[in-house]
Amino acid sequence: MTFSRQDFPEGFLFGTATSSYQIEGHAFGGAGSTHWDTFAATPGNVVRSENGDRACDHYHRYEEDLDLVKGAGFDCYRFSTSWARVLPEGRGTPNPEGLDFYDRLTDAMLERGIKPCATLYHWELPSPLADLGGWRNPDIPYWFADFAEVIMGRIGDRMHSIAPINEPWCVAFLSHFLGHQAPGLKDIRATARAMHHVMKAHGTAIQAMRAMGLNNLGAVVNMEWADPADDTPEAAEAAALYDGYYNRFFLGGMFKKEYPANVMKGFEPHMPEGWQDDFDVIASPLDWVGVNYYTRKLIAPDDGPWPHHHEVEGPLPKTFMDWEIYPEGLYKFLKRTAEEYTGDLPLFVTENGMANADVIQPDGTVNDPERLDYVQKHLAMVKKAGDEGVPVNGYFLWSLLDNYEWSLGYEKRFGLVHVDFETMKRTPKSSYHEWQKALR
Ligand code: FCB
Repeated sequence: MTFSRQDFPEGFLFGTATSSYQIEGHAFGGAGSTHWDTFAATPGNVVRSENGDRACDHYHRYEEDLDLVKGAGFDCYRFSTSWARVLPEGRGTPNPEGLDFYDRLTDAMLERGIKPCATLYHWELPSPLADLGGWRNPDIPYWFADFAEVIMGRIGDRMHSIAPINEPWCVAFLSHFLGHQAPGLKDIRATARAMHHVMKAHGTAIQAMRAMGLNNLGAVVNMEWADPADDTPEAAEAAALYDGYYNRFFLGGMFKKEYPANVMKGFEPHMPEGWQDDFDVIASPLDWVGVNYYTRKLIAPDDGPWPHHHEVEGPLPKTFMDWEIYPEGLYKFLKRTAEEYTGDLPLFVTENGMANADVIQPDGTVNDPERLDYVQKHLAMVKKAGDEGVPVNGYFLWSLLDNYEWSLGYEKRFGLVHVDFETMKRTPKSSYHEWQKALR
């Protein structure tokens, strides 16, 4: 590593992130069915139809996994709580085994001196709620606030930080417009509703947790830098629209009490009734904002239906996801977020990392210099933004373990630690050992 803890201001936090469905093993411990289980069971949605039944078996191996977090020297662990593990029906009677699991997990973090950073929802919607329309149903903000009370009523007293929803863009747009994730819809009306309800659910959960006396509450949004594919004004407009529904919609709702005008040209006719009245809830005050950042896109206009554009392949080196490596985007987003939306509020990079074709060598090691290079380039941009006065206070690497990469199954390895999905053996990769040196 060419960076070390000392390159960042005192108190800057380093962490690593995971999510429940991607690692726990959802067939264990009385968890209810989720829309990811049924999405994965439907042909054509997921590579080899793989699901999260076993995943990394973290449900049984969490102590070993937290030893790995500690062993690398991380200050924080960003994990998520499965709605369906806690409330198998989505509402009503909690599953005691689920609550006990998150209780044990929390204490195991504290025993190791690791700060627990919780995300309430990282995509595993309970199937009974999906049956009622899921994110399209106007009652979901209240169901979600109830879930927030149940899970945080059990572990909230020991959390370092809490965010309600991981990546609202993925919950709403990727899953209801592009159809790439559960529930796999491709419908503009469904999307407009999900976009708004996910914002409102964020706000109702924040309010519920404030009422419980909980602190250090934030939001985690994902951002993709959008560049025009050429120099024409049409391409510029296309990129601005992509930026609008991907990046600005969520921050706009939370910090300006409005949605971008270019996005509303497409969504307005499809919005749920009374949406304009929800901004006081949506913009409930926050203590911090987290940015998940991986890549950028080149956008070209076309004559198709709204949003009248498509992505074109870019020239930059790519990761195993085929995502262009563009560290400057992280710097630009940190600057822009502070300047235009969040001001003095602390920012965190809550996810950043890369998939790589990592394989176990004959000597049992895994070498991933590409991942180290990716991380270093992005950390340099975090440092640059910080040196220029952006209040960026921490960085979380995605991910601790190779895990279930959603519709791409187990093929895309993002971990600092290699997982053999047959034997469940964990093998720290070479970049893990570099983190140990950097954080010492
Ligand atoms: C993010 C998700 C995370 C993982 C990474 C690669 O969008 O939050 O679960 O899939 O991408």
